[in-house]
Amino acid sequence: TLSIKLFESYQMKNVTFKNRIVMSPMCMYSCEQEDGMVNDWHDTHYTSRAVGQVGLIMIEATAVAPEGRISPQDLGIWSDEHITGLKNLTSRIKKHGTTTGIQLAHAGRKAVLEGEILAPSALPFDDNMKTPKEMTKAEIEKTIQAFAHAAERAKKADFDVIELHAAHGYLINEFLSPLTNKRTDDYGGTQENRYRFLRETIDAVQQVWDGPLFVRISANEYQNGGLQAEDYIQIGQWMKEQGVELIDVSSGGVVPVSPNAYPGYQVPFAEKIRHAVKIPTGAVGLITSGIQAEEILQNNRADLVFIGRALLRNPYWAKEAAGELKYALQAPEQYR
Ligand code: FNR
Repeated sequence: TLSIKLFESYQMKNVTFKNRIVMSPMCMYSCEQEDGMVNDWHDTHYTSRAVGQVGLIMIEATAVAPEGRISPQDLGIWSDEHITGLKNLTSRIKKHGTTTGIQLAHAGRKAVLEGEILAPSALPFDDNMKTPKEMTKAEIEKTIQAFAHAAERAKKADFDVIELHAAHGYLINEFLSPLTNKRTDDYGGTQENRYRFLRETIDAVQQVWDGPLFVRISANEYQNGGLQAEDYIQIGQWMKEQGVELIDVSSGGVVPVSPNAYPGYQVPFAEKIRHAVKIPTGAVGLITSGIQAEEILQNNRADLVFIGRALLRNPYWAKEAAGELKYALQAPEQYR
């Protein structure tokens, strides 16, 4: 009999995911008071996907500092006051057997906020965006500490997984990319120097976090001189040496160019990095059917499948995928 990999459990450190379906982190821009606090929207939205049998729910990009929000409506984890709402949220999700993750983020030059915004170099994303301030060494240290404090709070809120947002042209990605990092100090220049901010962030987070750590990357910047999947073989090696558990492989967002996005267009990057670095990867991007997800897993192209918009359209996407794969997915107790 065919074993359906999408619905096989997956173990990482002390955490078991009941299946390989991950809800991809997606900003809801729904904090009404501009305070970064979890509200009814987040509770309902995420808990619905837990009832829908997603294995791991990755809570949206959550700001480690107020100036690191993409918008004033972003979720936040920059203060201890954020812990209670997040803890209630993880508790609701876990009641349905779903594992919880949180994506820790700093928007860098892509913050659309009042006041000063920060980046490795004083280069705006495009003509409509603010020019960021080049970060000083002290600001770099403070921001790395903000990631570590956020990780501590994530632990107190009972998250099982932390993902660092190092993709889509946000702060960490801005340090990694030669297109956005023109620094002449230890944090710019060579690939090793451009990796330093992420290296120190991973180290600082691991001082307070011993659970699974994921990093989301943009494995292609779609511009000459930008990073490509080949560069992430070296960077991925460094992450692996540092104990990162999984690389979540996305692309783009560093400069204002749109790729030709077709079904599974980022999967080859996840596959390449997985085989070259020998590290688990997550595949994401226009994966919409159970058959497509199963193909990725059975052909060992990735270890987990991240589903974004398909899960916005249908909180019961797992049930739909199970149907396609003729897998008898158990409904929640109450619906049997
Ligand atoms: C996103 N995406 C995203 N990515 C991320 O790393 N952090 C985030 O907070 C967000 N926010 C977000 C909001 C919304 C409304 C969308 C649609 C997307 C990207 C998302 O996680 C995913 O990588 C892409 O949507 C591609 O996957 P799908 O949607 O084709 O399955």
